[in-house]
Amino acid sequence: MGNLLRDPQDRRLPRIPESCALVIFGVTGDLARKKLIPAVYDLANRGMLPPSFVVLGFARRDWGDGDFEALAKQAAQEYSRTPWREEVWARTAGNIKFVPGSFDDDAAFDQLAQTLDELRDTHGIQGNAAFYLSIPPAAFPVVLKQMGRTRMADNEKSGGWRRVVVEKPFGTDLPSAKALNDLVDDVFTAQDVFRIDHYLGKETVQNILALRFANALFEPVWNSKYVDHVQITMAEDVGIGTRAAFYDATGTARDVLQNHLMQLLAMVAMEEPTSFDAAEIRTEKLKVLRAIKLPRDILKDTVRGQYLAGWVAGERAVGYVEEKDVPAGSTTETYVAVKLAIQNRRWAEVPFYVRAGKRLPRRVTEIAVLFKKAPHLPFHPADVEMLGHNQLVVRVQPDEGVTLKFGSKVPGTTMEVRDITMDFQYGEAFTDSSPEAYERLILDVLIGDRTLFPDASEVEASWAVIDPLEEAWHGTTPETYRAGEWGPHAADDLLAREARQWRRA
Ligand code: BG6
Repeated sequence: MGNLLRDPQDRRLPRIPESCALVIFGVTGDLARKKLIPAVYDLANRGMLPPSFVVLGFARRDWGDGDFEALAKQAAQEYSRTPWREEVWARTAGNIKFVPGSFDDDAAFDQLAQTLDELRDTHGIQGNAAFYLSIPPAAFPVVLKQMGRTRMADNEKSGGWRRVVVEKPFGTDLPSAKALNDLVDDVFTAQDVFRIDHYLGKETVQNILALRFANALFEPVWNSKYVDHVQITMAEDVGIGTRAAFYDATGTARDVLQNHLMQLLAMVAMEEPTSFDAAEIRTEKLKVLRAIKLPRDILKDTVRGQYLAGWVAGERAVGYVEEKDVPAGSTTETYVAVKLAIQNRRWAEVPFYVRAGKRLPRRVTEIAVLFKKAPHLPFHPADVEMLGHNQLVVRVQPDEGVTLKFGSKVPGTTMEVRDITMDFQYGEAFTDSSPEAYERLILDVLIGDRTLFPDASEVEASWAVIDPLEEAWHGTTPETYRAGEWGPHAADDLLAREARQWRRA
């Protein structure tokens, strides 16, 4: 046991990063205020940050350190996961710095580079820095160029490590994603680039690998011999909020199908990696992404939808085209359902139905593996009328856990069999609440652990799935659904044609 605890690979030991700075571009944006800064506070609160740690903000604001500290404090108080502790903030507050400037301002970037140099002496950050690009993708080129010019990305010059965190969307199609990857690679070495897909930071998503590869029970039936089909659902009750400009140019397929849902699908369908090393996991995920096959008739076997006005959870919701700043007559989709195949021996003939949408009845993300019916039932047909497919459901959020659904005898004198469920709930099984995805991912960036970050080839393989869809949909008008409904009727028809139906998640 003693030896085991000294094993540097033992992930149970608390992982504390080396002294460093986290530089955030776009500190006044929603992501920084609602996710990044609160995550930093939560990490500080859990004692996961090194004693020498600085948060350095950069934005076009006439601010000093104190102004940024005030914004950060408010954000942390409002959105952090862990309880507020004044003494934790007092320690953090002294290490919050701000450099004002716009992205095309050479002098401001020179100042930023100089500040990082100075922090090495004043705050002991040892030249280590992670740059978080929480900015619109259009601003990536200029910011990366500035980092290249000032040699801020240069590990050798800094005498430590320099990493960059790139938020999605990684481009808008395959060619733009390649161009973006080339651009980032020009400035940073590949191993210093961290592409964030926050779904991979969710405990329930990582648990897919534990469920499949730590247990003996599931893997033997995890294939086309036993699985009838797989349903992956990402439903949101919210609309597009204040992101009309971004969303209208993007749509559901580019916003979440290309990244979150493709990653979920890869985790469910991949082969066992030879180890839990980042490169090994990536190899297996990539094989799945490259084996995805779109339907021959895309327009028939996919559905795009857009929400009309309706009611969601008792509240009135306007239609998509009535949302503020959405152009009249917009044909952008807010819902998508697709039938995908995976061309390999394990999954031959097993459809993967994937759907995502906004303004659906409630927020739920889940992956359901529906098994084939038993080959023979020695019961009277009337007794098994209420018996459906056995199902294993990974409840990603919000009710985190796993459900197993199978038939059971109804108590009484007859042999009637009916579906029942057996539930595992995180909240009941574990005392600690799960860290926020961003908490986990920021910590991994600072530690330099790339396991939960998709690399350029995964991003490109995912775009290779999306591009033909976008091309086929070009110029078409989406189906409609009322806010508060489970998507357009055409999505039900998609499964009904194959004598299947969506789970009422
Ligand atoms: C983001 C999308 O990546 O994920 C949003 O851009 C979406 O449109 C969000 O609302 C959902 O994230 P979560 O963690 O709340 O499921």
